Amino acid sequence: MAFPREFLDELVARSDIYDVVSSYVQLTRKGGNYFGLCPFHNEKTPSFSVSREKQIYHCFGCKKGGGVINFIMEAENLSYPDAVRFLARRANLEVPEDDGDREAGRRRQRLLQLNRDAARFYYQNLQKPEGAAVAAYLKKRQIARKTAMDFGLGASLDQWDSLLTAMLAAGYTKAELLDAGLVIQNSRGRLYDKFRNRLMFPIIDARGDVVAFGGRVLDGGEPKYVNTQETLVYSKRRVLYGLNRAKKTRRPNIILCEGNIDVITLHQAGFDNAVASMGTALTTEQTRLLSRYTKELVLCYDNDKAGRAATEKAIDLLNNSEFTVKVLNIPNRMVDGQPVKQDVDDFIKSRGPAAFERLLTGSENHVEYQLEALAAQYDLGDDEQRVAFAQAVSDLIAGLDSAVEQEVYTGRAAEKAGFSKEALQLEVQRAARRRRGKERREQRRRDLNPAAAVQPRDRSSRYSDIHSAMAEEGVIRLLTRDDSLFPLCAQLKAEEFSSPLLGKIYQILLQDHAAGLSASVNTLAGSLTGEEMSHLTGLLQKPESLQNSHQALSDYIAAIHGSWQKRGGTETGDPLLAAQEKSKIKKGYGGKQQ
Ligand code: UTP
Ligand code: MN
Repeated sequence: MAFPREFLDELVARSDIYDVVSSYVQLTRKGGNYFGLCPFHNEKTPSFSVSREKQIYHCFGCKKGGGVINFIMEAENLSYPDAVRFLARRANLEVPEDDGDREAGRRRQRLLQLNRDAARFYYQNLQKPEGAAVAAYLKKRQIARKTAMDFGLGASLDQWDSLLTAMLAAGYTKAELLDAGLVIQNSRGRLYDKFRNRLMFPIIDARGDVVAFGGRVLDGGEPKYVNTQETLVYSKRRVLYGLNRAKKTRRPNIILCEGNIDVITLHQAGFDNAVASMGTALTTEQTRLLSRYTKELVLCYDNDKAGRAATEKAIDLLNNSEFTVKVLNIPNRMVDGQPVKQDVDDFIKSRGPAAFERLLTGSENHVEYQLEALAAQYDLGDDEQRVAFAQAVSDLIAGLDSAVEQEVYTGRAAEKAGFSKEALQLEVQRAARRRRGKERREQRRRDLNPAAAVQPRDRSSRYSDIHSAMAEEGVIRLLTRDDSLFPLCAQLKAEEFSSPLLGKIYQILLQDHAAGLSASVNTLAGSLTGEEMSHLTGLLQKPESLQNSHQALSDYIAAIHGSWQKRGGTETGDPLLAAQEKSKIKKGYGGKQQ
């Protein structure tokens, strides 16, 4: 996907970063920059900065950064080309789509149309005699006709090629059916329906397009679900089942559960704010999607080992996010005096919507959940285990931000394990001291090893040669601020860079310059990942004087050459120049190392 550079330059010129960001963040001027509360992480004091001069944003808190296109990608949860189109609409510019894109767009539209027709086909089956088995299954699961209709549920038939035949007759090609994941080809080349004799759930994205299907068996057969694989129109990381309906809810939060059936049961019971992550762990893409509709999530995963693991993972992901998170614990059901695990669907069906509403309004926050989960790991009837629990729970409480919270949960935990509150308080104080000591030691380690502080956050781009990398950063800083320096770079090759990422950025800057284009951070957005872009804006924040910039650049280049040769790089170019460089290294920038 490549947009013409002239178009991108025009787009960026017409999309001033300050204007664009201002419609998301309230910015106030401070020195040469603007500051506001970061839209990408939760904070109380502004560390999100916008530079009008450099046309970039950078958050000193979460370290995210980039140009105006990156900002829209993050803020609107869009891919690079879609962010470009978004800005173009805003700036009233026409997007020059190349033939490849138009073709891809057309194929996407065809697949979406095919999915819609397939959903209609499955839905109609449900009304026919052939769909009786699925209809009976819906009845058994107490899913009403109206609910089934709302969710577009359907039936795939107990035949090998009913969908295939119907869709070919409707004018779709075999290739399209394969691309949509609706049919499968066996080793002898024969095509057959992927979904057979299953209850069909169309998976509809927030825009309302049918992007995929899930199909549930009607008995205890395996696998329980068959789902569409990733296709041109479906990426499971970016979709939540039921969000197309839940986004219209008037309830204040969104309930996140595991299963498609849970979502349907909840909606049917009046909880029209339920969505499911369809059995996989919650992803960042999904949380970004959710953040458009709510600031409060209720985690309602199954009360089993997998469900608890999913809850912990989601809490980790949502920590430090803008969401308030509640965890809803579905209590076990007692059968013949024995506790039996149940999911949301079971709970609603056995206890009714009102009981669920009570569970919801009394939803415990996640500290409480962690406390419960921790307590469950110890046998509190055993003294030794009670002591171990006291220590573990003190660590948990000592990590809480507010004194009030600490107070509340100390009381709660003491009661639970049968300690006096005073005794547990002492234990919490001791844990807090341990914690502070550990933080101090870590800070000291950072102070002693400043190199670690300048490392890229993304492991794959870690610097292997800090000394050279610092000079490489300097080169990039200078080139993005002073065009007249490019001729001096004739002696510096990208492969001499120790950091592949910085080398790549350098290469792009050189190419752009050679093509007569301005060296702009913004136009790098199409070639770098979000992490890489953030790293770039981070290094551009560091001070760099433009006085004596020629000298500074030669010093940097000398340092890079020196490190390159130390790493075993062969000398390139003019031998005389190389000799001069060497003598410079001894007394110049590079020499300081010895
Ligand atoms: P569940 O097993 O809890 O299914 O898996 P469910 O939808 O709640 O169905 P019932 O109520 O047990 O009959 C949760 C979700 O995980 C995905 C499905 O999206 C399912 O809704 N899953 C489950 C699969 O993708 N494949 C499987 O084999 C099982
Ligand atoms: Mn379930």
